[in-house]
Amino acid sequence: MNELTRKIYEFAQKTLTPARFAHDVRVMEEAVRIGKTEGADPDRCALAGILHDVAREYTLEQYTKLGLTEQPGANDPENAIYDHVLMHGMAAAKIGRETFGIEDEEVLEAAAWHTTGRPGMSTLAQIIFVADYTEPGREGAHFDRVRDVLKKDGVLAACAEEAKLSATYWLSKAGLSADARISPEAMPPNCRFSYETMLWAQEQMKENETGTNLKAPAFIRRDNMNKENSKKYTEIVVAAMEDRKAKDIEVIDISEKTTVTDAFILCSGTSSTHLRGIADEVEEKMKQNGVKPARIEGYDTARWILLDFIDVVVHVFLEEERQFYSLERLWR
Ligand SMILES: [Fe+2]
Ligand SMILES: [Fe+2]
Repeated sequence: MNELTRKIYEFAQKTLTPARFAHDVRVMEEAVRIGKTEGADPDRCALAGILHDVAREYTLEQYTKLGLTEQPGANDPENAIYDHVLMHGMAAAKIGRETFGIEDEEVLEAAAWHTTGRPGMSTLAQIIFVADYTEPGREGAHFDRVRDVLKKDGVLAACAEEAKLSATYWLSKAGLSADARISPEAMPPNCRFSYETMLWAQEQMKENETGTNLKAPAFIRRDNMNKENSKKYTEIVVAAMEDRKAKDIEVIDISEKTTVTDAFILCSGTSSTHLRGIADEVEEKMKQNGVKPARIEGYDTARWILLDFIDVVVHVFLEEERQFYSLERLWR
């Protein structure tokens, strides 16, 4: 254990109840174990592991002191536990950065998103996400299932399995089917995943039922992205949108916030026909430049059409849908 990890270990020992501290230590050890098979640096695995739950038993007051009151419903007693759970990862990352001077962004990311998951998680973040489930103190069929997949297919497949099992649980508890349409504002009650993780889980459930042969287009780090491409594509897409009289065209650079894509290009249309016209034009102009979308979603219903060109993701909305999903708010 290096000096920094030791310091956080001692901090955790002081701040957590013995049972929670024991879990924190087991996650650290499990992360190192998983890291070995994934080729991840054991020191970073240990550091992220011990950091992940240091704020798990903080009070709302302590979260407020850390500047974490933005969570909707944070001051609503009925939602307190729910929000607590969602905040403790962010709080751990803050403590890691501000109290212990950690500058390794992937270590901080791993702590921040260990409960909720998010698109484009690094391998280290995936390791902590899974280690939190597979550490030997967890008992139950659900956990054994994730352990099996981890052993057989590696950490990304285990992430998918965990996401599927948990998402199924939350959805069914809320009386919803596996493919129920969710939104950032209307997540199943007590769901501890981010909206994007839920979408990914639902996608996995549709794609395959076993957790093997994993296809994770919206989740894995996209190593082949290229800034030059995203600039060029943005120009082509915006021009195509303008040609078809799209409204409120907006480009959001999210390259600093996630590795899932470089930019979102948003616009609105007045009717489903208008939306399809815009989407067709975007697809056509990109095709003329030799680029085909990796996936298109929502074309049939045409209320929110998504065209994924990897380097940029295009969203064509009906006006009211755009307000409802409010991606701008989510990513700014
Ligand atoms: Fe946690
Ligand atoms: Fe944990």
